[in-house]
Amino acid sequence: MNRGTNIKENAKLEVEGNIFELPLLRASQGQTVIDVSPLKSSYFTYDPGFKNTAACKSEICFIDGAKGKLEYRGVDIDKLASDHDYLEVVHLLYFGNLPSKEELNAFKAKLDKNMKLSQQTLNYLATVPKGSHPMEILMGLLTTTMLKPKNNESASIDDAMIDLIAKIPVICAAIYRHGQGLKPIDPDPELSYSANFLYMCFPDAKFHLDDDFVKAMDAIFTLHAEHEQNASTTTTTTVASTDASPYASVLSGVAALSGPKHGGANEACVNMLKEIGNRENIPSFLDKVTKREAVLMGFGHRVYKSKDPRATFIQKLFKDIISKAEKDNPLFDLAQDLEKKALNDEFFKKRALFPNVDFYSGIMLSAMNFPTNFFTVLFALARTSGWLSHIKERAEVYSQPITRPRQLYVGKVADEDPEVTPDKYSHQKP
Ligand code: ACO
Repeated sequence: MNRGTNIKENAKLEVEGNIFELPLLRASQGQTVIDVSPLKSSYFTYDPGFKNTAACKSEICFIDGAKGKLEYRGVDIDKLASDHDYLEVVHLLYFGNLPSKEELNAFKAKLDKNMKLSQQTLNYLATVPKGSHPMEILMGLLTTTMLKPKNNESASIDDAMIDLIAKIPVICAAIYRHGQGLKPIDPDPELSYSANFLYMCFPDAKFHLDDDFVKAMDAIFTLHAEHEQNASTTTTTTVASTDASPYASVLSGVAALSGPKHGGANEACVNMLKEIGNRENIPSFLDKVTKREAVLMGFGHRVYKSKDPRATFIQKLFKDIISKAEKDNPLFDLAQDLEKKALNDEFFKKRALFPNVDFYSGIMLSAMNFPTNFFTVLFALARTSGWLSHIKERAEVYSQPITRPRQLYVGKVADEDPEVTPDKYSHQKP
């Protein structure tokens, strides 16, 4: 099949008497795309939030929002999260194939050599005031990884990938321990990537020796690793398009992820469930949502118009693994009740709003003993592999110019009647 190539038929666009032939580009699966480049900037397209814009070609991830389907490089997400550990998934995303045993060992050996944090990273962490938000600490610590005698502008993407994938779990575990008033723990190269992370967070609780916990950690990292052109990936590739270093690009992804409309939703969702408190309060909460006085966190998605497969997976994982350890989890039961009621509510039905990954992930992470304000850090740890895969693809496979959109200017005009205000143009607003 010709991927991303022209279909014979063109779309025709007539604007003010000018006719444009716009090629149709075939996707290997999913929507056909109209190539607007023949407009050659004679007209711009207007698409706030890029709701209808394909900004690039990519082979990394596919989402069918109507069917609730998610694939990384043509492999179904359920299969990846069930049968493969996170490091294999990182290899798949970045290099394009699930690794052989030898490839995986070689990859892990390179990471193991780069895990140690620099003294300047540790010194910086020691100065961070207690109570700082873990996502803000992460941004600060990532900055310290850039400070090297050798300028990062010349760092290759592959070298930066090894350095960042190696260090990010060590940095995140150190942030967790800092929040608990504890010193960081050195990694143990004998352990798998996820077991090592659990060990560096909870050495005494020995969760890293519990296969179920390690499997759950791997699955959670895999489910969060990649999601095509989401807000943080778009931010990351925008920064990378200026030829900024991969470190600076990943740092910008962390900043974009921190917002409650994106990666910060898992934290906001657990806080919301705690505020709702019990099932009797669900109807009054949903009433507030329909009156626009509240937002149901963990619901709704730009792409999914059915249940996010990652939410389904985590819900099942919770039942299979965590409920073995705990008889009742009131927050999980409350979330399941809330989901049922929302899905039967006209407001949510009409807008096709379903649970997204963040609806159950926070509950799962709480049950795994992570504090609420740390959830988004775990998301960033996992998504670092997706960001770096897109940076590499954009640089080496589907290169394109610097990301620089145009605008519909509705402001004042120099030398025009001083009485004229931007309101004159308000009819042009959507
Ligand atoms: N609660 C209540 N109403 C909602 C919600 C929600 N969670 N999500 C969307 N809506 C409403 C909107 O108000 C809008 O209503 P309208 O058409 O009457 O104006 C309609 O549903 C469509 O929503 P948009 O905001 O236009 O959808 P968009 O694609 O721009 O935004 C987003 C998607 C940001 C995820 C949104 O659904 C949201 O804010 N959800 C809550 C936060 C959340 O869970 N974020 C995590 C997303 S997954 C991730 O990033 C990992």
